[in-house]
Amino acid sequence: MIIKASLFKDAFYFKKGFIMAEIKYQLPRGTQDIYGDDMSLWQQAEQIIRDQCRLYGYSEIRTPVFEHTEVFKAENDSSDMVNKEMYSFKDNGQRDLTLRPEGTKGIIRSFVEHKMYGNTDLPVKLFYIEPMFRYDRPQKGRYRQFHQFGIEAIGLRNAMLDVECIALGYRITKLMGINNVVVLVNSLGDKQSRDNYRKALKDYFNPYLQCLCDDCKRRYQQNPLRILDCKVDKDKDFFINAPKCKDYLTDTSKKYFQDVLNGLEQLNIPFKVEDNLVRGLDYYTNTVFEAVPVDDEGQQATLFGGGQYDGLVNSFNGPDYAGVGFGMGIERLINLSVEQNGICPVKRTSDVYIISLGDVNDYSLKIAERLRDNKIVTALDLSARSLKAQFKSSDRLQSRVIVIVGEDEKTNKTAVIKDTENKEQFNVNFDEVVNKVKEILGE
Ligand code: HAM
Repeated sequence: MIIKASLFKDAFYFKKGFIMAEIKYQLPRGTQDIYGDDMSLWQQAEQIIRDQCRLYGYSEIRTPVFEHTEVFKAENDSSDMVNKEMYSFKDNGQRDLTLRPEGTKGIIRSFVEHKMYGNTDLPVKLFYIEPMFRYDRPQKGRYRQFHQFGIEAIGLRNAMLDVECIALGYRITKLMGINNVVVLVNSLGDKQSRDNYRKALKDYFNPYLQCLCDDCKRRYQQNPLRILDCKVDKDKDFFINAPKCKDYLTDTSKKYFQDVLNGLEQLNIPFKVEDNLVRGLDYYTNTVFEAVPVDDEGQQATLFGGGQYDGLVNSFNGPDYAGVGFGMGIERLINLSVEQNGICPVKRTSDVYIISLGDVNDYSLKIAERLRDNKIVTALDLSARSLKAQFKSSDRLQSRVIVIVGEDEKTNKTAVIKDTENKEQFNVNFDEVVNKVKEILGE
């Protein structure tokens, strides 16, 4: 008998004098298993992404799931992602490592480490589809392990590259059947613009310092721009009159931003200038953007977000290159596509079903492998069930051809082949099985 001992926080069981901890064989919070119809949606989405990246000249890159913590954690970094959400740990060699919370910094580390800029035309265009890890409060569209498709175009500072990058993201949402996306855009300007704006924000928020949340008090010191991204303080009265970045842009930055807006207009990409858009990460300069569903009221619906990062490559001891890119949450992309288009269940089918009767599984397997050598989808029944039960299973897979193998067939090196459509049956030698099946399938 098992007695549950509720005295313990995590339930324990006493069994025959032993104490056994209850093992939780469950998903960790904020993670998901992906399988069945969902998996085929993922495969479709990834196929669309890969095809489009090829059209735009992006090649795939894979970086490690974990990096040295310094790769993600810049000195005095003000972002929530770095300060609160990283899965950091020490390995057995006492190294400080972190599970990748985002793609960009690992890519820049790799770009500089392998000197990808030598001997090639710029920009270097890279894309990735990889899991990311953030310790955040899970809710709809927000997970602790999620997957990002992202692109980075490194080595060219050009407004049309920013536009092309947004165009690729937008095109993918369209191809996924999502019809109501608008791209929110803003400019944070060049270094001088941001320095001026930071000073203006500090002056403005100084009298309200005591009214700000604890995080914003930290942001005030580290990077006052990030106060504008605060979900806690954003509805407070004094926020409405906070200085706008657009009023502090240098002429060069103004022109750059105007070029981006013109480019978006020419490509008919729906956009809206959002004065307070600053993005949650510290490295952005000039253009920043987030693509959201038009009628979205929720907080977690940004499909893809990104921007330009002038200075990031340099901070990794690389050349003075700008880059631009975005990250797109694949879970969000798929969820929204399913919300708008429904899900079309994928039926598993097979061209050939091999029924085995008696101790003949080794012979049936040989036939199955021959068929698969010839790219014929083959289901092999090794269950030793009755003929009727195996026929039922072949029906479920809508198999056009059934191959029946029993003791006699194994001894004589033959097989019985049934054409389920024309209701014909053939007795053929082992070497003729493939040709007969192909003939029935019309290949
Ligand atoms: P991010 O805005 O932090 O940017 O993430 C990009 C996208 O990843 C979001 O728009 C969202 O779709 C998805 N995402 C983020 N967090 C979660 C989560 N907890 N659960 C599900 N989906 C999530 C970056 O990561 C930048 N590295 C993007 C970038 C690339 N900027 C320049 N290049």
